[in-house]
Amino acid sequence: MTRVLAAYDALIAAGELRPDAEQREAAECLDALAATLERPRRGGILARLTGRRTAPRGVYMWGDVGRGKSMLMDLFFAHVDVAAKRRVHFAEFMLEVHGRIAIERRKEAGDPIAPVAAALSAETRLLAFDEMMVTNSPDAMILSRLFTALIAAGVTIVTTSNRAPADLYKNGLNREHFLPFISLIETHLTIVPLNGPVDYRRDRLGQQDTWLVPNGPKATAELSAAFFRLTDHEVTEPIPSEDVAVQGRVLHVPKTLKGVAVFSFKKLCGEARGAADYLAVARRYHTVILVGIPELGPENRNEAARFVQLIDALYEHKVKLLAAADAAPDALYPEGDGRFEFQRTVSRLEEMRSEAYLAQGHGAAGEAA
Ligand SMILES: Nc1ncnc2c1ncn2[C@@H]1O[C@H](COP(=O)(O)OP(=O)(O)OP(=O)(O)O)[C@@H](O)[C@H]1O
Ligand SMILES: [Mg+2]
Repeated sequence: MTRVLAAYDALIAAGELRPDAEQREAAECLDALAATLERPRRGGILARLTGRRTAPRGVYMWGDVGRGKSMLMDLFFAHVDVAAKRRVHFAEFMLEVHGRIAIERRKEAGDPIAPVAAALSAETRLLAFDEMMVTNSPDAMILSRLFTALIAAGVTIVTTSNRAPADLYKNGLNREHFLPFISLIETHLTIVPLNGPVDYRRDRLGQQDTWLVPNGPKATAELSAAFFRLTDHEVTEPIPSEDVAVQGRVLHVPKTLKGVAVFSFKKLCGEARGAADYLAVARRYHTVILVGIPELGPENRNEAARFVQLIDALYEHKVKLLAAADAAPDALYPEGDGRFEFQRTVSRLEEMRSEAYLAQGHGAAGEAA
């Protein structure tokens, strides 16, 4: 047993996690992978001649929301003793890959995917992706070749997804070109379903009202408790911040952990921000806690317009919103430019408080995955 399974069992013993047979099986699988990765690699003659080494078999964990996929992935990643390891959100990784491919293309030196895969595999032996989903044709078209090259170069892939491999890029354009990627995943990764009956995230939210009125110490205390419940963070420890790059600019996220981000209305909607910022937020975080939403008057039409864009992005990506505001959604912006359009936002905000909305997985609605 490496430290992965031990860490999982310790969390169960401490009462932080409820026993779950499927999760334990997944933890065993990840533990075995950690052990293989930690063993010194013997390069055979073939490996030395070709420069290729066989990658230990990766893992594809899939299942409905809140089943503990990211939690298990984090445990694995924290405890596997491999220096060249990298954990990255899948969407972010694909943006990076397209950026690197564009640079290679400009060199006009033939197939741009091969050098990108070579560079990635020189940097890391273990790639851990969270939330693999395939939602656009440019990604779908390159994934098979990219991942074939990565695996051939000895990179082990561990990933989570809300879908079984066979359902990735479902109904996507030119899906026939994508099918080799599905076979690749099914052949080279161990498929681990995590589809038990309990949505632990929903459980942790409990009967938490997600739109708190008014702003003030009571709402702050409730939202802060929700943050700690959702992230398992120790109350006494400082909460990390991060900077997200959006079209060459930086969006500072003052508090974030495990896919949950905290923003103030002032920072997110009170400054010159646009759809690109809100999409970046919606793609990156499954839960957004937004504090300090004031009542908006006609003089706040810019804030109101940005808030509409923010809510559209969050709604499209099924992001959970916990908010503290000075008014209920329908009384937030009673008059001013764009009041008519704001009505849709009110309706979305109402829906976003519903049990059905909260039970959905993170990811763009209506996308092909
Ligand atoms: N066995 C468990 N007992 C108690 N809490 C758990 C258990 N498993 C997971 N959790 C908690 O439930 C929450 C959701 O888990 P996690 O984020 O790993 O879900 P997920 O499967 O990645 O969901 P999604 O598909 O939405 O990304 C986390 O706060 C996690 O710590
Ligand atoms: Mg997750």
